[in-house]
Amino acid sequence: MHIVVTGGAGFIGANFVHHVVREHPGTEVTVLDALTYAGDRRSLDPVADQITFVTGDIADTATVDRLVAAADAVVHFAAESHNDNSLADPWPFVQTNVVGTYTLLEAVRRHGTRLHHVSTDEVYGDLELDDPAKFTPTTPYNPSSPYSSTKASSDMLVRAWVRSFGVAATISNCSNNYGPYQHVEKFIPRQVTNVIDGVRPKLYGTGHNVRDWIHVDDHNAAVWEILTRGQIGETYLIGADGEVDNKTVVQTLLELMGQSPDAYDLVCDRPGHDLRYAIDATRLRDELGWAPRFTSFRDGLAATVDWYRANEAWWRPQKDATEARYATLGR
Ligand code: NAD
Ligand code: DAU
Repeated sequence: MHIVVTGGAGFIGANFVHHVVREHPGTEVTVLDALTYAGDRRSLDPVADQITFVTGDIADTATVDRLVAAADAVVHFAAESHNDNSLADPWPFVQTNVVGTYTLLEAVRRHGTRLHHVSTDEVYGDLELDDPAKFTPTTPYNPSSPYSSTKASSDMLVRAWVRSFGVAATISNCSNNYGPYQHVEKFIPRQVTNVIDGVRPKLYGTGHNVRDWIHVDDHNAAVWEILTRGQIGETYLIGADGEVDNKTVVQTLLELMGQSPDAYDLVCDRPGHDLRYAIDATRLRDELGWAPRFTSFRDGLAATVDWYRANEAWWRPQKDATEARYATLGR
């Protein structure tokens, strides 16, 4: 099988390419990535001689058409992915997440190519802290931020192209990922690299917001199963029953890094900050037999801390510009 991986120089996409090269040898991989501030070709260094890398935009019809025509399947990770950035400047989110996904859909329609669209649990909005409910494939869409509303839009485009044009696509909506190669703008790498730099972690609001954490390798193993064995037209929710509030995440990191558990600061909240996410992954588990391998969040966090300690050369170039952006937001 020849797959095109969009966004393969980003956090989850790069880990997906590593996963495919390691676990599914014989798969031909072409990465299409625009190398925005969030893309880093060095994340693919360990597999560079086993893949083809194309620098390009998913909204560029000619490039996309050429690559899609030569592929059996497209795994679509490319996106603007950070909520805080979407609040500061929504336009790149509309352009890449909506227009870019449209461009890919038209190409797979022309060439009859299989598509797997990688999306987020944020399309469902948020849940109350004391609500026993979790998101399911029938939860109504109710996105809160410019980021999540553009991802919701892209999901709707995929659904419409399946129904109206018979495009062979699947969708997955996953919860918060952690692991190696994640940009230091995101919560866990930001706090780990802050502590390495002697800066106190920063919690938005009161720190009681809950995220449903999953290791990136477990997400990617699920994406492969859906790509190869999922039902066309279906939506699969991916999550590993990993609900933890932000304050507990920071306190666990502080403890793992030898700091006092109260050595953090509360900073001003994110506007519209979603309270809680929680995934019901029953369909994925029952239909495709998927189960997470990283069952201890604490052990996964410890390994992630070790990775950032060992790979300062990878994250250091992004750190100052990221913190300068946060400083303008007061966070
Ligand atoms: P990321 O920001 O780390 O990586 C995005 C990648 O896409 C980068 O390499 C960037 O250069 C590339 N890109 C951006 N615009 C592009 C364009 N116009 N053309 C080509 N490439 C472009 O993002 P991530 O965290 O790896 O997320 C990947 C996907 O997974 C996204 O679709 C996101 O919505 C989804 N997702 C993320 C999470 C999470 O916790 N990070 C959870 C669920 C779903
Ligand atoms: O749920 C899936 C989503 O998870 C993905 O679709 C997004 O691409 C991904 O970025 C992530 O979105 P979040 O907004 O949940 O992730 P972020 O890492 O930005 O923040 C996680 C939580 O931590 C959130 O409640 C905000 C909070 N936070 C974040 C930062 C950067 C802090 O308290 N302090 C911080 O410094």
